[in-house]
Order: sequence, then structure tokens, then C-alpha cells
Amino acid sequence: MKIISVVGARPNFMKVAPIYRAINNKQKISGLSIEHLICHTGQHYDEKMSRIFFEELELPKPDFYLGIGGGSHTEQTARIMLEFEKVLLAEKPDLVIVVGDVNSTIACSLTAVKLGIKVAHVEAGLRSFDRSMPEEINRILTDSISDFLFVTEPSGLINLKNEGITENKIHFVGHVMIDSLIYFLKKAEKSSVLKELDLVKNNYILVTMHRPSNVDNENGLNDLIRLLKKLSEKHKIVFPVHPRTRKNLEKYNLNLNHNTNLKITEPIGYLDFIWLMNNASLILTDSGGIQEESTYLGIQCITLRKTTERPITVEVGTNHLLGDDFIKAEKRAEEILNGNIKSGKIPDLWDGKSSERIVEILISELT
Ligand code: UD1
Repeated sequence: MKIISVVGARPNFMKVAPIYRAINNKQKISGLSIEHLICHTGQHYDEKMSRIFFEELELPKPDFYLGIGGGSHTEQTARIMLEFEKVLLAEKPDLVIVVGDVNSTIACSLTAVKLGIKVAHVEAGLRSFDRSMPEEINRILTDSISDFLFVTEPSGLINLKNEGITENKIHFVGHVMIDSLIYFLKKAEKSSVLKELDLVKNNYILVTMHRPSNVDNENGLNDLIRLLKKLSEKHKIVFPVHPRTRKNLEKYNLNLNHNTNLKITEPIGYLDFIWLMNNASLILTDSGGIQEESTYLGIQCITLRKTTERPITVEVGTNHLLGDDFIKAEKRAEEILNGNIKSGKIPDLWDGKSSERIVEILISELT
């Protein structure tokens, strides 16, 4: 059996790493021969957005690197398709595994199905119901053409059913990203990031912000700068800045001024980042994955978005969905830091074994 797994952007690496490990383990135990190749589209290419993750997540060098880089959505998606088609024609895999909701996910799944190759979508069924988000379009399209849909939370089962997807394609397996979190948290304990950034456990706010709706316009960036300035009067903040946010700050000539309480950094590697999450008193974010990781870790998280495609993090987890109201966010942040916290639970099947479940299902259906 030959499988190609696709990675492209930062949130993909930690999802493919446990699948890679589970396939290797399965081969060792069962004696089955599975050729598992990794294709990196190069959607993300900076050292700190890509290469560092391969090293830290114990992933081998990708078998294929498409070197796509940035561009408009159409350019990026089309270039990935053209290059990925060459890989598929040469390798003729039995299955392509795609994860998450980035442009690489839809580009590679569409290329594969056009060649009659089966596709497994890991993290299927999530819906924000906001079609202005590029990821929502990627999710809907990828799910509608995939053969295996691996779902992380109950809302995904309902969404896929409502969209008329045949039930026998859908599998509730939990979350591979949590597999990585559980597996690497021990290793992250050795991180010296708190010392390097002069931070004390449970005594700082971790901020990430990179959604187009928050950072592609001047008003959104000004709101963010005001919020950080206000919160940093009383609290320590660490803010690793995503390339999209950095480019837009430069474009609008805006400055995020360092002060003793506000630490602005480059994007941070996986182990240091999960250690920063694990020890934060509060996380402020617009990321998808961080809402889930903070729920697993039981860390309070304010999400600055109007919708979430991951409702379990609000329903049972520690996520506070506050829309784009930065004044409300400041107020809520203070309340949380004063001890008014939301207690949370770990969602079902977020137990570190999702990749094993996926591999079992794939093997039983494909052999
Ligand atoms: C992409 C995903 C988003 C995900 C995010 C995580 C899509 C539609 N969006 O958004 O869902 O949450 O990744 O990071 O796929 N850039 C660099 N260096 C890099 C990577 C990007 O400079 O290593 C620049 C690009 O050239 C571009 C900007 O950052 O100008 C945005 O990159 P892009 O891949 O288009 O989308 P993201 O905003 O990163």
C-alpha cells in the first residue's frame, strides 16, 4: 500500500506527525508493508513557520517539496495542483491523506480525486458557517470529495450528515493534533522559553493573531494594538507575530512597541509554544488549533472571532468566544485574570490515540 500525506502550512505539521508515527508502529507490529511518503507543498516556507517543526516533531525530510510559497488564493491553489499532479502521476498512491483546512488541503484533495485516487480528510466536518473565511470554503469542498472523513468532535458528525454525506465514510476518531500535544508535552518540559522571555508560570498572557478578518485591515490592527497596550499596563504579554500580521503592520506603518511588559517575538517553534500555552494565565487568539489545545490543557482562552468551527471548545472547554469586540475582550481578560474563570473538560476521544484509530480504519478498508 502506498500513501502520500500532504503538509503545507504550519498547523498541518503537528497533525501529520502522529499519523506518520502510527503508520510506522502499525508496520512494525503487523508486518504489513506500507510505503508512506510526505509531500510538503511549501505553502509555508520560513524556517520558523516550517523547518523547525519537522525537526521538533520528529518528521523525516519530506519526500517531495513543491516550493509553492505565497500568492493569491487562486495562484497558490492552482500552483499546488499543477505540481502535486506530477507527484501523483509518478507515484500512483492508493491514498492521499490531507489534514485541516488550508489551501494545500483543498488543492491536493481535488488533484487526487481528479485522478481517481482515494482521499482521507483528517479534521473533517468542522463548520464556522462563515463563508467569508477562506478555510470554510476549503473545509466544505474537501469534505464533499473525500472518501474517508475523520471527525474530531460531535458537531462534525451533525454537519456532515446535514450536508448529505454518506454515513459509512464518516468516522469519529478524536483529534490528531491532541495526539501530538500529549506526546510532545513531556519533551516541552525541558523548554527554557519562560526563562528566555523572562516570564513566570501562570503570570502572563499569550497572544496570537493572524486571521485575515483581524489583521488585513488597518482598523483591526489598531484595535489590537490598543488592546495590547492597555493589558500590558498591568500584565506581562508575549506575542509571537505571524508573517501575515507582520506584513500588514509594515504595510500600514503601524508599530507594536516593546515595553517591559509586552514581548513581541518571531513565530515560535512547537515545543516552546506548547510550553508557553501550558503555563499561560490566559491566551488571546484567533487561531483554530489554539482554541482546542487550550481546551485540552485547561487554560483560559479568549477567541477574538465571531464564530468558531470548533464549538466543543466553548461548550465543554475553556474557550470564550467574544467576537471582534476588543473592549469586551479587555474587560473579560481582566475578569479572568481576577479569578472569574470557566472550568472545562477534555472532549471525548481527545486521548492521544486518534492516529491509531485512523490507521486501523484505513488498513481495514483498504486491504
Ligand atoms: C494559512 C491558512 C490558515 C492557517 C495559517 C496558519 C489558508 C487559506 N490559510 O494562513 O488557515 O491558520 O496558515 O499559519 O491556507 N508567509 C511568509 N512566510 C511563511 C508563510 C507565509 O512570509 O513561511 C506570508 C505569505 O507569503 C503571505 C502571508 O504570510 O504573504 C500569508 O500566508 P498564507 O499561506 O497565504 O496564509 P496564512 O495567513 O499563513
